[in-house]
Amino acid sequence: MPRTVLVTDHVFGGLDGERAALAEIGCELVEAGDASLAALAEQAARADALLVCFAQVPREVVEAAGRGGCRIIARYGIGVDNVDVEAATRAGILVTNVPDYCLDEVADHAMALLLATARGIVPAALAVRQGGWTVAQSGIHRLAGRRLALLGVGRIGRRVAERARAFGYDVCGFDPYVADWSGTGIAPAESAEAAVAEADAVSLHAPLTGATRHLIGERTIAAMRRAPIVVNTSRGGLVDLEAATAALEDGRIGALALDVTEPEPLPAGHPLRTHPRALVTPHMAFYSAEAQAELQLRAVEEVVRALSGRAPRCPVNPQVLEPVAS
Ligand SMILES: NC(=O)c1ccc[n+]([C@@H]2O[C@H](COP(=O)([O-])OP(=O)(O)OC[C@H]3O[C@@H](n4cnc5c(N)ncnc54)[C@H](O)[C@@H]3O)[C@@H](O)[C@H]2O)c1
Repeated sequence: MPRTVLVTDHVFGGLDGERAALAEIGCELVEAGDASLAALAEQAARADALLVCFAQVPREVVEAAGRGGCRIIARYGIGVDNVDVEAATRAGILVTNVPDYCLDEVADHAMALLLATARGIVPAALAVRQGGWTVAQSGIHRLAGRRLALLGVGRIGRRVAERARAFGYDVCGFDPYVADWSGTGIAPAESAEAAVAEADAVSLHAPLTGATRHLIGERTIAAMRRAPIVVNTSRGGLVDLEAATAALEDGRIGALALDVTEPEPLPAGHPLRTHPRALVTPHMAFYSAEAQAELQLRAVEEVVRALSGRAPRCPVNPQVLEPVAS
């Protein structure tokens, strides 16, 4: 019987590249028919590897996969918050991600959201479509000299800083794990609250973890003195959507520009879908034709490596490899 690789879900035009790469090592690709947890667990138990896009892969699914002898869970993407990595480590299953396929795209998208919002592009363009031709007389300010706060100063945050500085923003940042700020052009802040206090714009670039859930919530919103534009291209869970929507409505937040929300998709009829100072895109910051091709290739390459007994390029839980290496 051929070995099986289960694709839990995907957002791509097709999986021909994956199919071909897996056929070369005698593996068959199977697409999950039913995304319910029970069905996913049942299918995972019969797979040698999982390829996962946005589907939730909680402990039950990971443990079922482990019992069936699954060797690797390869995420199509950077964040691994939808996979129970601890359960995978306990089950001896390698988890991989693709940390470097869309860094410029996400940084560009964050800037696009920031610039479109700061310049009032969407309402102006919509008014022109509807036959209008008037210039908004408030809410638009010169960008040069304004302050951008980055929460999370990793690969994408640093790219956003470079771009924002080219537009004249003063950039500050909060990241508890950055020890050396030299050469970043970013002024370090002591806390998220300190970073956002005098910011005209805030952009989020941290992973979703227990510590970052609702990083934009009542406490940080209360610290904001300049009704900033809040941009989120990281994970929806970083923003307490209820608190942020209320703050948008009463003016404590000037504008919300979100590529990610919790939940996704944003429910039909949610006030942010139509709010004049909200700009929401459908979790697309990662996307360019080039980035997507690279993502699909790199994710399946990890599966091929694992099933051929070779070392992965980007292990998230390298500790599962240690017994093999020693
Ligand atoms: N919208 C999209 O399509 C899309 C695409 C790719 C990545 N992403 C998201 O972007 C995020 C950032 O990606 P990256 O490549 O820059 O990751 P990265 O690991 O290079 O950087 C993340 C930074 O966040 C910091 N951090 C961790 N906890 C923090 C906290 N409590 N407060 C502030 N900072 C904290 C880390 O120290 C690190 O420097 C990813 O985690 C992913 O969720 C979204």
